Amino acid sequence: MSRRVLIAGNWKMNGLLSDGVALAHSIAERAWDKNCSLLVCPPATLLMAVGEEFADTPVAVGGQDCHVAENGAHTGDISASMLADLHCRYIITGHSERRADHGETDEIVQAKAKAAWAAGMAAIICVGETEAEREAGDTLSVISSQCAGSIPDGATAKNTVIAYEPVWAIGTGKTATPDDAQAVHAHIRADLAKRFDDDMAARTRILYGGSMKPSNAADLLAQPDIDGGLIGGASMKAEDFLAIADAVPQDA
Ligand code: 13P
Repeated sequence: MSRRVLIAGNWKMNGLLSDGVALAHSIAERAWDKNCSLLVCPPATLLMAVGEEFADTPVAVGGQDCHVAENGAHTGDISASMLADLHCRYIITGHSERRADHGETDEIVQAKAKAAWAAGMAAIICVGETEAEREAGDTLSVISSQCAGSIPDGATAKNTVIAYEPVWAIGTGKTATPDDAQAVHAHIRADLAKRFDDDMAARTRILYGGSMKPSNAADLLAQPDIDGGLIGGASMKAEDFLAIADAVPQDA
């Protein structure tokens, strides 16, 4: 079953207008002829300008979060339809930084994924265990429980991408070994098959995130159940982001 690999950059809370536009410009110039889909999720303040740089290129733009409501009295928040209005195709939901910084529960993440769908976008639903959970041997049960709680009924391969991001690997330089990551990805796919069906599980993309960089991308992306990357630090350098895209196996 072929799944088109997705290489997605999450710029997090980084970038002012001039550097964001310059970075998008250098990515856009060399984004052609990649063997994967490309996505950049800049801070909301840069979406319009970055989106203009990526217009008519193979690079899609996405949001990093959205509110569960479509509009209303929610000072400082951004709705999914506002992101769709700026041509976003995806919204990251449930990133561990939002779960930690904003107390987002699985229930909230699930509501945000539904909000993304309602506005016509796909949700990139993030799950991942902490270091303590890994050391206690609880990785697979934590991931199963986050997937069960965060992925809404009605998920399809089109409206949903899962991102496995071990919390201990984010921004630390520590990466899951390709074998360890593959084991978790295979577990997530088996859970999807049980809850939905084999076809949905076989078609749904599961990305790896956590210190992915040019030097480790090829080994991670060679794993049968790793269908791309959600990249933080290395996505802020055009050369590294594009090198990761170039690491996608030719037969992917
Ligand atoms: P790093 O690539 O900086 O570890 O961040 C991963 C991440 O959190 C992407 O969402």
